[in-house]
Amino acid sequence: NQPQILAGKSILITAGPTQEAIDPVRYLSNHSSGKMGYALAIAAQKLGATVTLVSGPTRLNPPAGCEFIGVKSAQQMYDAVMQQVDKHNVFIGCAAVADYRVDEVMSQKIKKDNDKLSLTFVKNPDILASVAALPKPPFTVGFAAETHDLSHYAQDKLKRKKLNMIAANDVSDTSIGFNSDHNALSIFWPGGQQRLAKNNKDMLAYQLLTLMNQHYDNA
Ligand code: PMT
Repeated sequence: NQPQILAGKSILITAGPTQEAIDPVRYLSNHSSGKMGYALAIAAQKLGATVTLVSGPTRLNPPAGCEFIGVKSAQQMYDAVMQQVDKHNVFIGCAAVADYRVDEVMSQKIKKDNDKLSLTFVKNPDILASVAALPKPPFTVGFAAETHDLSHYAQDKLKRKKLNMIAANDVSDTSIGFNSDHNALSIFWPGGQQRLAKNNKDMLAYQLLTLMNQHYDNA
């Protein structure tokens, strides 16, 4: 039995990849398995929170007891989050959201008639930045997936997106991060930082939520 440190809190979490359609049979996506975000949803509930999980397509079962909203594209994830966010006092953006989508999704399967194929991309809305920019934002926690200069880029995202906290992982290390059962996180908040050493994602979820809760009251 976990101490109910998050009792009375309502937490909105995004998890998994997004899929951006190219034509009726193809899409662009990434290697996110959803494991980190689902571990956060399960841990938050065990610590007493009410949880809504907005998830891109994964192989995982929706965690029992949480409100689950399945989506495919970044735009659908954005719409679901914006519809839900008012009801929550914490937002954690753990999803690997596609930064771009194809400008024009083809209504018919693209044929291989040409040797070269060009696609034009347009930027997707930034869900995390949009949540943090709301007039009354929840306590907003972002993730940062970086392959180099982790601390520099994470702290830049923290400031630029006006977040309360950011959890950075080094996704160039294939033993952690995308699809692994393990991760290691560098957590930054305005004026401080803490390293959460390599561990399984379940344990890291508890550690991150405990840290979030310590900073929640000061926000
Ligand atoms: O799912 P797993 O296999 O367990 O892997 C976990 C993970 C590596 C996916 C996870 O730990 C992680 O790092 N998630 C964030 C991945 C990501 O998209 O990082 P980013 O640095 O590109 O984005 C920064 C932040 O902005 C993230 O909180 C992201 O959710 C958010 N974002 C990004 C783009 C966008 N259009 N909208 C967003 O909200």
